Amino acid sequence: MSLKIDPWSAPKTLDYERLLKVFGIRPFKELIPLFTEKGIPLSLHMRRGIIFGHRDLDRIINAYSRGEKVAVLTGFMPSGRFHFGHKMTADQLIYYQRLGFKVFVALADAEAFAVRRLPRSEIVRIGIEEYVANLIALGLDAEKTVFYFQTNRGTPYYRLIQLFSGKVTMSEMEAIYGDLTPGKVMAAFTQASDILHVELPEYGGYKHVVVPVGADQDPHLRLARDLADRMKGVVDLLPPASTYHTLIPGLDGAKMSSSRPDYTIFLTDPPELARRKLMAALTGGRPTAEEQRRLGGMPDKCVVFQLYRYHLVPDDETLRAIREECETGRILCGPCKRRAADMLVEFLRDHQEKLKSAVEVARRVVEPPSF
Ligand code: TRP
Ligand code: SF4
Repeated sequence: MSLKIDPWSAPKTLDYERLLKVFGIRPFKELIPLFTEKGIPLSLHMRRGIIFGHRDLDRIINAYSRGEKVAVLTGFMPSGRFHFGHKMTADQLIYYQRLGFKVFVALADAEAFAVRRLPRSEIVRIGIEEYVANLIALGLDAEKTVFYFQTNRGTPYYRLIQLFSGKVTMSEMEAIYGDLTPGKVMAAFTQASDILHVELPEYGGYKHVVVPVGADQDPHLRLARDLADRMKGVVDLLPPASTYHTLIPGLDGAKMSSSRPDYTIFLTDPPELARRKLMAALTGGRPTAEEQRRLGGMPDKCVVFQLYRYHLVPDDETLRAIREECETGRILCGPCKRRAADMLVEFLRDHQEKLKSAVEVARRVVEPPSF
């Protein structure tokens, strides 16, 4: 049975178990021994099972430990404000950069124009001032990272897009994506070129590339892998590796998204506004304090706990202690939320301080498209 994923629709909750079964994504945890053997530290999101799946990451890790060139690439559609969902991808880029991977960041302005229909000037401003600036403020090294707008990337990148279009049929595309429009077909080939072009000598010849994404982006990875094979005889491309992460929920337990600002924490939210949003979040608490003391809370159903787990508490032992306090009913949701809110406010104050100079740097390191 087929299970189509539309990467452009408001993502529904994906069934991660089925993804592993139906699409041949491998469980991430089977790679832990390889990381240990090679002496490579796991990232926070890898240790906590947030990164739950991969394709071919073992090939990249082996190449890395042989001292070969390796790269990580991802893209952001500059169509809204940068929030904690985006931060998770940022953290992964920073993790790979510190290991020594070359980092590429695509600003998907072609995609935002085609599928979100935003004005060009707005897309460009958001790309630089929201996405690139926040990435830099979070710790991505601006001088070592290649940030580019899709519509600016140059001839060999566009040559791939043209040649890809001769390598698949419309029914194959529909089997991957479901209903398509010309804009979506273009966006799909453009994203395939984002993923594959860094293998070309013109862009550094990085043959071992990993793409960290949310599971809703897997159709693009499947397309890029097929295209890499089918380009044999034209240009030599290896299929990209990828990792898949679960998405942090919004404050009401549904999706975190720029289009749902009350349930989404943006990295530029005034800290006191972010505190108020968090204090109203859905928890895994019980209906009465008495019940919670007796039965304990349910951290796995709690959005506040997910914020601790994805972002606020880097230390594993501290996170374990918070889980235990919750599950044994030693803490109630009120004080637990206030602690999370204090951590959040402190993080935002510090981040927003760094953001001031990061915006200047972002303007300097990214070339805006001329129209
Ligand atoms: N389509 C992605 C999104 O909706 C953005 C994107 C563009 C991307 N190019 C990419 C993601 C390459 C990963 C790799 O956010
Ligand atoms: Fe969530 Fe904290 Fe309440 Fe536990 S005590 S359910 S972690 S808010």
